Amino acid sequence: MKFTRSGGLLGEVTVPGDKSISHRSVMFGSIAKGTTEIRRYLQGADCLSTISCFQKMGVDIENRGDRVLVRGKGLKGLSCPDTALDCGNSGTTMRLMSGILAAQNFTAVLTGDASIQKRPMNRIIEPLSLMGARIKSLDGSGCAPLEIAGGPLEGIRYTSKVASAQVKSAVLLAGLYAHGQTAVTEPCLSRNHSEIMLKHFGADVRTEGTCAIISPAEELYGNLVNVPGDISSAAYFICAGLMVPNSQILIKNVGINPTRAGILKVCRDMGGQVELLNRDISSGEPAADILVRSSSLHGTVIEGDLIPTLIDELPMIAAMACFAEGKTVIRDAAELKVKESNRIEVMVQNLSAMGADVEAAEDGMVIHGGRPLHGAVIDSALDHRIAMTFAVTGLCAEGETQVMGAECVNISYPDFYRDLRRIMTAGPSFSS
Ligand code: S3P
Repeated sequence: MKFTRSGGLLGEVTVPGDKSISHRSVMFGSIAKGTTEIRRYLQGADCLSTISCFQKMGVDIENRGDRVLVRGKGLKGLSCPDTALDCGNSGTTMRLMSGILAAQNFTAVLTGDASIQKRPMNRIIEPLSLMGARIKSLDGSGCAPLEIAGGPLEGIRYTSKVASAQVKSAVLLAGLYAHGQTAVTEPCLSRNHSEIMLKHFGADVRTEGTCAIISPAEELYGNLVNVPGDISSAAYFICAGLMVPNSQILIKNVGINPTRAGILKVCRDMGGQVELLNRDISSGEPAADILVRSSSLHGTVIEGDLIPTLIDELPMIAAMACFAEGKTVIRDAAELKVKESNRIEVMVQNLSAMGADVEAAEDGMVIHGGRPLHGAVIDSALDHRIAMTFAVTGLCAEGETQVMGAECVNISYPDFYRDLRRIMTAGPSFSS
């Protein structure tokens, strides 16, 4: 896909449903009693992987497009899948499902694509094993494929080295089935969608600072889940609206849970005009419309507790920093190296190819903004967030930017290019 400089971006965008919340709604609905109705379920490849894994374990899931009905089997009602469970590209599917499978009365194998077979799974193998789970990396690499032989579990108090909602959620889900309470403490708070939704489904879960505590459950109960728009998808429009001159974009009904909304703070810290309108709370999750206007941006420092609240938005923020005056420092973000690609390496390589002044660090990047960028051939590394980042960056660069593997946006935002095209006032400045 090829991109050139764009005129102002004007209009409204409705991004698809939140990926993290969509995954959880099918998983928790599958192990609940009764029917869970999910509105605005994300129809991206990752969330379809979650549906197909639970269907393979005997759950009746009716996917009617933006509405999904899950006829739950109860906590112990899953059945043994007759083939390996394919998580595709989805770390959330693999890690959260491991917590559930650790307690079932069957053995299952979890696998996925080439990217996920390189991502670290010891971070869930370790705490789940401490709970008594029999879980192993089949090739001994600490990565998928994983074999999980379910059985009885003991509650633990676990202190995680990383602030990871996937680790926290895997342990809490196992804790639903364990003997005694389970507590997970993180170095700083990661997204809390599991805690909110588990409570919505009747679980006894509470939070004390950066510690989440769950008691074993007799049953969960299916419920209505209204999925808000995904702030990680909205991020491309938020930044595009700030970066492309003469733009004004209204992004409708986006989740603004504080454990996810760090990008809004960073945009404001950089001088971005960002307003929240029509605030609302649904299924325990806050949402709002986000209005952005072209802004004159300056550099900032992004670090510490803020990092988990914008971890998936950092590629887009790093690219935006190239258009901000002065220096932007991103630190404490070593987790970027173990996402769908090594996002420090891939961002530095691609931004440098466009003429940016950017250096890699062990735990982040340093960007000296203000230099004009030129088009280049971009390797997306088949990472959806990299492809979307460079589609937007290409709209602000001189000449042509070609994103290789652009179709990988299908993982989280199948209609991304259509939605971007719709707000281009001067006609589309890209082609396939
Ligand atoms: C997610 C948590 C984050 C995030 C991922 C989705 C989740 O990963 O990067 O895209 O839904 O729990 P980590 O838990 O590994 O930080």
